[in-house]
Amino acid sequence: MSSRFEKKILVTGGAGFIGSNFVLHEIEYSDNTVVNLDCLTYAGNLMSLEPVRNNPRHIFIKGDIADQELVGSILKEHQPWAVVNFAAESHVDRSISSPESFITTNVLGTLHLLEQVFHYWEQAPESVRTEFRFLHVSTDEVYGSLGNDDEPFHEKTPYDPRSPYSASKAASDHLVNAFRHTYALPAIVTNCSNNYGPRQFPEKLIPLLIMNALDGKPLPIYGNGLNVRDWLYVDDHCAALHLLLERSGPGENFNLGGRCEKTNLEVVEAVCDMLDTFCPQSPYRPHKSLITFVKDRPGHDLRYAINISKISREFGWKPRETFETGLEKTIKWYLANQSWVNSVKTGKYRDWVLHHYGWE
Ligand code: NAD
Ligand code: DAU
Repeated sequence: MSSRFEKKILVTGGAGFIGSNFVLHEIEYSDNTVVNLDCLTYAGNLMSLEPVRNNPRHIFIKGDIADQELVGSILKEHQPWAVVNFAAESHVDRSISSPESFITTNVLGTLHLLEQVFHYWEQAPESVRTEFRFLHVSTDEVYGSLGNDDEPFHEKTPYDPRSPYSASKAASDHLVNAFRHTYALPAIVTNCSNNYGPRQFPEKLIPLLIMNALDGKPLPIYGNGLNVRDWLYVDDHCAALHLLLERSGPGENFNLGGRCEKTNLEVVEAVCDMLDTFCPQSPYRPHKSLITFVKDRPGHDLRYAINISKISREFGWKPRETFETGLEKTIKWYLANQSWVNSVKTGKYRDWVLHHYGWE
């Protein structure tokens, strides 16, 4: 078991959107060495980790959180003081058309990971057992859907998941809570609202809008566009997770969000207006002309809103970015990183993995 001075953490799913931003955040702002376990589904992209490819403080391992032998050997070898679990199937629409992988990874995968982490933690010396944290990154979608006048979700809001994705995330949260309650595993669960920012796969609303608009393609808005989400810039999420790792006691749940509710129409209009400004030569201006209403998502949750007073009160955390500053950073990142964008569009990022690492 490492002493805290070696400061290794195990991050799972660290080649995905939030995970890769978190890895980069930890390398830049902490002295943790990050062991990054990711099986590289379509959503895992090592190009997102290019800035730390040769950094000795980032150790990438291709593998599945459900592979107990592998996870056990990683824990034994690296002896992390914390495990942060981002690994998941994360897209609601995919969960509607094909739910099984959501159960396999989000439920069974989390269970297998928990079993190995518990085994590792229970055999550790007392000093390390006290310090260890398992941080499970989850979603506000487990709470269900709000009416327009309802109070935002708080940590005691009963779970009411309504899509296969949110049902699988709710199950994983319950498993983490059960390991905490039954075996005293020092675990923290965070439930966060919609993230946006650099390195997000363009199946999610904001990167899809940016990439389609730049190509003059339709900007698909489900239903009437009046569904509401709360938006948090990804670096603010990473900062909150880091803070909780360092400062939260075990056995806590925290809600995280941006205090920034927007209808999908407001989001698409903001993206279009910024692209009009940043791309004055674009033949597709005004980009709003690309907005296209399409068939609604089945069971589409009307509204998510989240009360973040617990983390604000206890640790003074609040989002640094407004929607305007965060969106500007996001759009500028997509404009400046055309090789990432093109490799994702063509699927070349997967060849890149083969080319650079020799992995299928
Ligand atoms: P993502 O889909 O971009 O990335 C998921 C990563 O997990 C990918 O790199 C993928 O290869 C990896 N992965 C999937 N299955 C795996 C397995 N069995 N073993 C190892 N690695 C595996 O997801 P994201 O948007 O970065 O979300 C990360 C976490 O945060 C998820 O748990 C999600 O539920 C949660 N979350 C996301 C948001 C959001 O807005 N994106 C908001 C709140 C919570
Ligand atoms: O709330 C947190 C959740 O946010 C995370 O747990 C999920 O992993 C993440 O994917 C996200 O879920 P959403 O379903 O809210 O995100 P998505 O980007 O898919 O959709 C955002 C809103 O935009 C939603 O109301 C559906 C709508 N939408 C989405 C797409 C992809 C459209 O109108 N058109 C689209 O093409």
